[in-house]
Amino acid sequence: MKSRIPLSIAIAAATLVTACAQQRPATTMKEAARDRFLIGTALNEGQIWGRDTAGVRVVRENFNAIVAENCMKSEAIHPERDRYSFDSADRLVEFGQENGLTVTGHTLIWHSQLPRWFVYNDDGSLRSADELKAIMKEHITAVVGRYKGRIKGWDVVNEAIMEDGSYRRSPFYEILGEEFIPLAFQYAHEADPDAELYYNDYNMWFEGKRNAVVKLIGELRERGLRIDAVGMQSHMGMSHPDFAEYEKSIEAFAAAGVKVMVTEFDMSALPTAYVGADIAAGNAEASQALNPYADSLPAEAYEAWHKRMEQALSIMLRHSDDITRVTFWGVSDGDSWLNNFPVRGRTDYALPFGRDHRAKPIVARFIEMCAEKQNNE
Ligand code: XIL
Repeated sequence: MKSRIPLSIAIAAATLVTACAQQRPATTMKEAARDRFLIGTALNEGQIWGRDTAGVRVVRENFNAIVAENCMKSEAIHPERDRYSFDSADRLVEFGQENGLTVTGHTLIWHSQLPRWFVYNDDGSLRSADELKAIMKEHITAVVGRYKGRIKGWDVVNEAIMEDGSYRRSPFYEILGEEFIPLAFQYAHEADPDAELYYNDYNMWFEGKRNAVVKLIGELRERGLRIDAVGMQSHMGMSHPDFAEYEKSIEAFAAAGVKVMVTEFDMSALPTAYVGADIAAGNAEASQALNPYADSLPAEAYEAWHKRMEQALSIMLRHSDDITRVTFWGVSDGDSWLNNFPVRGRTDYALPFGRDHRAKPIVARFIEMCAEKQNNE
C-alpha cells in the first residue's frame, strides 16, 4: 500500500520552506537586488573560455546578467565582409544559458572597434549610403539572428550623441545622417522581433545629451520603432558625475517612457587624467600624480571611493522601479579597462571585487541598503 502525505501537511511544509528561504538574509548583490534589478558584469576572453577560474567563480556566485566586454563588437565578430568570427560570442551565450544568466548583446552599431571595411571602400573613400545600409542590414541580421531567443536585448546603437546634444560626426553619420539610428533599430527588430532594443551612451548626465536622447526616443517611437531602454554606461570617477544631474537623466528617460539600464558601471578611484606631454615624455612626477596607488589603495582613498559608490547605488535603488539592470564593467579590479584608459598602465580600483577577487565592503553595504529599503516599504 502506498503511503501518502496528506495535502494539507505538504502545503504547510512547502509554505514553511518558502518562508525560511525568504527570511535567509541575502549574501550577494544579485540576491539582495532580486526584486529590483539584475546585477550584471562584462566578461573578457579569459572568463568566456574559463581560463580565469577565480573570475568565473565570482561571476557564477554574484551576478545574474552578463554582457561581452569586447567579443560582440563589429571588429571582433565581423572582421571581414564575408567572414564572421562567432566563437567567443557563442561561448559567452552558452555560458549564460548554462548558468541561467540574462545575456545582453553589446553592441551592433558603434564608431569604435569598427573594422574599416564596414564604412570605407578599398580606395579609402566612404561607402555610399546604399552600400552602408546593405552592410548594416547584413551585419545586424546575421548577429542578432544567430542569437535569436537567447539574447534578451541589444545595445543597438552606442555613443552616437555628443555632450552638447549634437550628433557625433562618425562615418555612419557622415554617410547616412541621423537616419542610421532608426535604420539600425528597424533591422534589429526585423532580425529578432522579441529582443529588447536599447540606445547606449556615456556621460549621460550632460543636459545636452540627456535632451537629445529624450528626443531620439520620441522620434523612434513616432515612427513605430521599438526601443525598450536607454543604457547609461555610468563610467564614474571621484569628481564626476554631479549626482543630481545623473539622477535627472534617469528621471528624464523614464518619463520618456523607456526603462533605464546602468550598463557599464565603474568608479575610478584615480585622479581624472588629462593626458599631456608630460606623460608622453615619461615625466616621473606626472606619472606618480596620475598613478598614485600603484601598490595598494590607502584606507582614506577607499573610504572616499566607498562613499561615492554608496551615493551612486542609492540613486539606483531609489529609481529601481525604472531601472531593470545594473551591470558593472568587468569582474574584478584587475580586469577593468580603466587600468589602461585614459592612461595606459595605471592601477585602478573601480569595481566591487578587488584584484584578489574578494568582495569589498561596498558589497555588504549594498546588501544592507537593499534590506533597509525593503524595511521602509
Ligand atoms: C572597452 C573595453 O572595456 C576595452 O577592453 C576595450 O579595449 C575598449 O572598449 N564604452 C563602451 C565599451 O561601450 O564597449 C568600452 O569597452 C568602454 C566604453
